[in-house]
Amino acid sequence: MASLDMFKKDFTSLNKSNSDIINKRKIINGEDDGLMQVSPLKHPFANEIFQTMIKNNWVPQEVQMNRDIEMWKDNDALSEQEKEVYKRSLAFVSNLDGIQTNNLVQNMLRQITSPEVSLAIVRQAYEEALHVHSYSTMIESLGFDPEEIYGMYKKDLKLYNKNKYVLSAVGKIAAYDFKTGNFKNDQMFLEACVGNIILEGIYFYSAFLIFYILKRNNKMPGSAEMIQFINRDEDMHLKLFIEITNTIKEEQAELWTEEFREKITQNFKDAVDHELTWGASCIGNGILGLTPNNLEEYLHFVCDMRLSSIGLPKVWGSKNPFPWIDEMTQGSMIEVNFFEGKVKEYSTGTLKWD
Ligand SMILES: [Fe+2]
Ligand SMILES: [Fe+2]
Repeated sequence: MASLDMFKKDFTSLNKSNSDIINKRKIINGEDDGLMQVSPLKHPFANEIFQTMIKNNWVPQEVQMNRDIEMWKDNDALSEQEKEVYKRSLAFVSNLDGIQTNNLVQNMLRQITSPEVSLAIVRQAYEEALHVHSYSTMIESLGFDPEEIYGMYKKDLKLYNKNKYVLSAVGKIAAYDFKTGNFKNDQMFLEACVGNIILEGIYFYSAFLIFYILKRNNKMPGSAEMIQFINRDEDMHLKLFIEITNTIKEEQAELWTEEFREKITQNFKDAVDHELTWGASCIGNGILGLTPNNLEEYLHFVCDMRLSSIGLPKVWGSKNPFPWIDEMTQGSMIEVNFFEGKVKEYSTGTLKWD
């Protein structure tokens, strides 16, 4: 966020009009007085996303977990392997949302010089905090030992390595004295934005898949509903960072070099590899029809969509092996409004789908 430097100047030297300031507005390195002038807008996409986020309001306490609590206690409802996969997925998504909450507040926001974009990221950070709270609701209602879930990364080397990789990808701009304003740092910031697309659009999507597959087999429906709410939020976060990335590409076209495009394409491929290693370690030979092979196909399909969304060529050209997931995640998972076809508008506090 921009600093309030205007107030360090002499009053008589404040000779810039508001339109001077707004016309020079950019996502990063723009003119800004730090007073959040969000009217008129320079980046209307951010306001549209912000408005949708408000309509999508929800709270985890209103999701019914009763059936899940019964199922978890019923020895015939879930196999030991399914329980293990559930816990490992929960551990990963809870760690991931924790990382993202801090990343947005500590790393991202302080570089942004567009107030409307800042507002959307602040709302996103609130939603990530809500997701952190959702996972604690799941942990508590199912009677898990929090140490087992939150602390799994200390005992599971694969989870430790995965968290470490995610953190290094989004934390490239975490140094306290990091500041955009030169070519190298601006590219680093843009790479961190793409890191956000990978986090929101690839990692979460594969973790969510487990909960949807369980639900499809009539297992843990409350958890899946919680994940659907979270997924709807993540869709908007993904959209926000796709727009941010594409707008920076326009505002500072010199950053989008061939070398840089190759680098970030490689980041996407590395993320898929990490996700596959992790996924395979969770599901072994397979669980409820999810196998290492169709997981790989799914990740390639999802990753191709993310690459296309920022103007990069697809790598694999895979088809979605789980077309039914559209019912859970809605449409093409980003181009279409979440839950389109079932509901068009939400009002604050509404948790019903129709
Ligand atoms: Fe989240
Ligand atoms: Fe998110």
